Amino acid sequence: MATGDRRLLKAAFSGVWRFLAWWGAMFAFLAGFGTTCPFCGQPGCPCGPASAGVLGGLFATGVFLTRWLGKRLGRESCKPAGHASKLDFDSLAGRYDRWYDAPEGALYDRLEKRAVARLLPRNGWGKELLDVGCGTGHWASFFSEHGFTIAGVDISPSMIRVARGKGIPRASFAIADAHELPFDSGRFDVAVAITTLEFVRDPEAVLWEMVRCTRRPGGLVLVGALNALAPINRRRKAAGKATYQEARFFSPRELKALLAPFGEARVTSAALVPQARWLLPLAPLTDALGRWLHLPYGALLVARVKL
Ligand SMILES: C[S@@+](CC[C@H](N)C(=O)[O-])C[C@H]1O[C@@H](n2cnc3c(N)ncnc32)[C@H](O)[C@@H]1O
Repeated sequence: MATGDRRLLKAAFSGVWRFLAWWGAMFAFLAGFGTTCPFCGQPGCPCGPASAGVLGGLFATGVFLTRWLGKRLGRESCKPAGHASKLDFDSLAGRYDRWYDAPEGALYDRLEKRAVARLLPRNGWGKELLDVGCGTGHWASFFSEHGFTIAGVDISPSMIRVARGKGIPRASFAIADAHELPFDSGRFDVAVAITTLEFVRDPEAVLWEMVRCTRRPGGLVLVGALNALAPINRRRKAAGKATYQEARFFSPRELKALLAPFGEARVTSAALVPQARWLLPLAPLTDALGRWLHLPYGALLVARVKL
């Protein structure tokens, strides 16, 4: 159920509970102390107080149930946005993939995927991959094309619903908080987080969880993060859009330091794209040049640690 629907239901339950409280109290009062019994119509008859007791009991049960249901629904709807994630992605789920479909987004996506593919094991067949903050399953499709069996987790129920709807082969998706991954230790060959650490409450804790779930020795932890030094990301921050205001972008040095407790991290920057639109066709060239010269200005930092 979408967050909006949940909020509506919560409001409805809260309305029902108020209605019951008001009319129940009125009825109980009239039944118990009023001059006329609501059942037999006799003034001051003994069934008045008795019926007041029964009605009061029913009323209390109704109030308890509606409040309990209202609270349950409310708690579930607030959880994703509240603490574990800096941003509630539920409201973005329906239009999230538009960026990848637009020509500029598709260009960045192609270059970023090339960079990630360079750090992945060449053959994913028979290997299990954990996709943390999998969103709409965009990257899960890519990992699936490389043969991996994927477990994707995300805290946003709507993102997970979109991911499930894609019917990606060998991929399963679950709602979970990256700070407490619901998997046994050492279960995965590869753990990946693409543009997720920017939005979690505690990136270090999430990395520890990813490492815990990855096979040791020999497993791989791979992180894709928005580069604080990239011109496109500077523009995004400056534009003041809520999505990016909340995000913590990383410099290559910060990402390396974040990964240092787990081993020597190889950090590269990908998708060095000219910012002027008319120069976009040169992107494959500028990207290749950036890689060759180790320029740290590409849009996405891609880092890998071998455990
Ligand atoms: C920018 S999106 C990236 C989605 C996907 N990896 C991609 O690149 O298309 C960040 C994702 O991280 C998820 N997220 C944020 N905090 C999370 C948390 N604590 N646990 C799990 N997922 C989280 C969000 O719901 C969102 O889907």
